[in-house]
Amino acid sequence: MYQVRCILVSMLLFLGFYFCTCIDTITLTRPVKDGDILVSNGETFALGFFSPPNSTNRYVGIWYNKISEQTVVWVANRDHPITNSSGILSVDQTGNLILHEKDQSFLFWSTNVSGVANGVSTAQLLDSGNLALFQGLVNKEVYSWQSFDHPSNTYLPGMKLGLDRKTGLNKVVTSWKSSQNPGVGDYSYKMEFVGSAQLFLFKGMARIWRAGSWTGLGWSGVPGMTKDNISNGTYIDNEDEVTIVYLMHNPAMLSRFVLTEFGTLERLTWEEVSRKWIGFWYHPKDQCDGYNHCGPFGFCDPYASLTFECDCLPGYEPRSPQDWYIRDGSKGCKRKVGTQMCKFGDGFIELARVKVPDTSTAHVNMSLGLKACAEFCLRNCTCMGYASADISKGADDGGCITWHGEMIDTRTFSDGGQFFYIRVDAAELGTPLMLFSNLIFNIYYMIYVAYQIFFT
Ligand SMILES: *[C@@H]1O[C@H](CO)[C@@H](O)[C@H](O)[C@H]1NC(C)=O
Ligand SMILES: *[C@@H]1O[C@H](CO)[C@@H](O)[C@H](O)[C@H]1NC(C)=O
Ligand SMILES: *[C@@H]1O[C@H](CO)[C@@H](O)[C@H](O)[C@H]1NC(C)=O
Ligand SMILES: *[C@@H]1O[C@H](CO)[C@@H](O)[C@H](O)[C@H]1NC(C)=O
Ligand SMILES: *[C@@H]1O[C@H](CO)[C@@H](O)[C@H](O)[C@H]1NC(C)=O
Ligand SMILES: *[C@@H]1O[C@H](CO)[C@@H](O)[C@H](O)[C@H]1NC(C)=O
Ligand SMILES: *[C@@H]1O[C@H](CO)[C@@H](O)[C@H](O)[C@H]1NC(C)=O
Repeated sequence: MYQVRCILVSMLLFLGFYFCTCIDTITLTRPVKDGDILVSNGETFALGFFSPPNSTNRYVGIWYNKISEQTVVWVANRDHPITNSSGILSVDQTGNLILHEKDQSFLFWSTNVSGVANGVSTAQLLDSGNLALFQGLVNKEVYSWQSFDHPSNTYLPGMKLGLDRKTGLNKVVTSWKSSQNPGVGDYSYKMEFVGSAQLFLFKGMARIWRAGSWTGLGWSGVPGMTKDNISNGTYIDNEDEVTIVYLMHNPAMLSRFVLTEFGTLERLTWEEVSRKWIGFWYHPKDQCDGYNHCGPFGFCDPYASLTFECDCLPGYEPRSPQDWYIRDGSKGCKRKVGTQMCKFGDGFIELARVKVPDTSTAHVNMSLGLKACAEFCLRNCTCMGYASADISKGADDGGCITWHGEMIDTRTFSDGGQFFYIRVDAAELGTPLMLFSNLIFNIYYMIYVAYQIFFT
């Protein structure tokens, strides 16, 4: 009965094009030829050869089995297309999955893992959309390779992005070259590990958007994540890995992140009623999402002013007033002239709904509460600001993140974000005694400047 239904479903979908095998494994004796389709156990995903729109090249890919609009989530031979229909995906004598042409030895693609025992490997298309290569029989815990470790342009539920500390593999999402060409494109979405771990969108080597660091509730640059009621994201940081994974509350709901050829990270769910992918989230979204848009010590606030989104953090002023005047904030800000940092009377000014600065120059201590964090920051002259490291917890056990060096890529949101405390001197805080001392300093400074002008 199952078999009959399975064949019917597949015949309806692929009528006239393919003969469905309705099997989910590849073994030494059972390869997948161009035209064959593997269907996962729960019939959610299919694997086979496909051609992108307007292309005659053949690629091995995985797509959703049940939906009418072919949506490819993974491609094996991204940069090595096969030009005719003689491709075969099989398990070889070394236990690897290989893609070659009939009677030809050239490899278009291979899993290329070593140390697989005596060639008894089985590849299985799982219902999560993961293609796993097991040693020996299927359903063992041990896999020697899985497609989830080598993403294409799509990030699926259950897939881990980030670093496997044991193998050193950093799992990265990369865009297609174009809708006709699934080859590795310009854009990548990837985790970086300087300071505390952060996710970035890259164009080539250049950072173009920072999803940011994990705040306990989500990524600092993605305020919408905290309102996500269809899935949950979990950040894992232990001796084995630093990764992010998400799962759908309703596993039957089809949902994906895709990094488009134009460099937009989109999140979509399939709506059966309209038979369409509905996008409900994307980044970069506005000018303030542009990485380092307002330069060092600047911050980007799209709601504050109709004329210019850039501003300086409290205690700072534009480094280049001329550029600032023509609405170019890229040179950023510097300490206001005459400020006396790291003297008695330093304090903090609080900003709300903030995407905290790039944490490459930050230091995290999870055993300090927010108050101890402020004290720690005051005691250390290189500390420029602080925030809670985990806003899902209370002020006493949320940890402490401090910045030591240039603070870049700070922005505000209309909703979401967190509190951020910027270190300023007494004058900026407006303490009366300190205002007086600052006045003395300013007079001294003016005399100094006058001296410089007239006598040197
Ligand atoms: C395929 O080519 C046609 C005609 O050139 C064009 O209208 C269509 O947009 C192309 N489709 C894709 C997905 O590029
Ligand atoms: C497919 O193309 C290859 C060269 O890329 C050629 O050697 C082979 O004969 C072709 N197969 C068929 C069935 O046309
Ligand atoms: C296979 O892996 C080895 C070592 O990891 C590497 O040197 C080689 O280039 C790889 N081959 C292919 C076809 O990717
Ligand atoms: C999630 O929240 C939105 C807006 O509050 C609501 O429209 C939607 O029905 C909710 N979805 C689920 C699955 O609860
Ligand atoms: C996330 O949601 C999935 C599915 O509802 C559930 O099995 C899992 O335990 C949840 N994880 C966390 C950390 O809440
Ligand atoms: C964190 O702060 C505690 C208490 O001040 C201190 O003992 C510990 O060494 C700090 N840890 C790091 C990694 O700085
Ligand atoms: C200040 O903090 C930085 C970064 O954590 C650290 O390298 C430096 O030693 C600290 N300096 C003092 C005086 O504690």
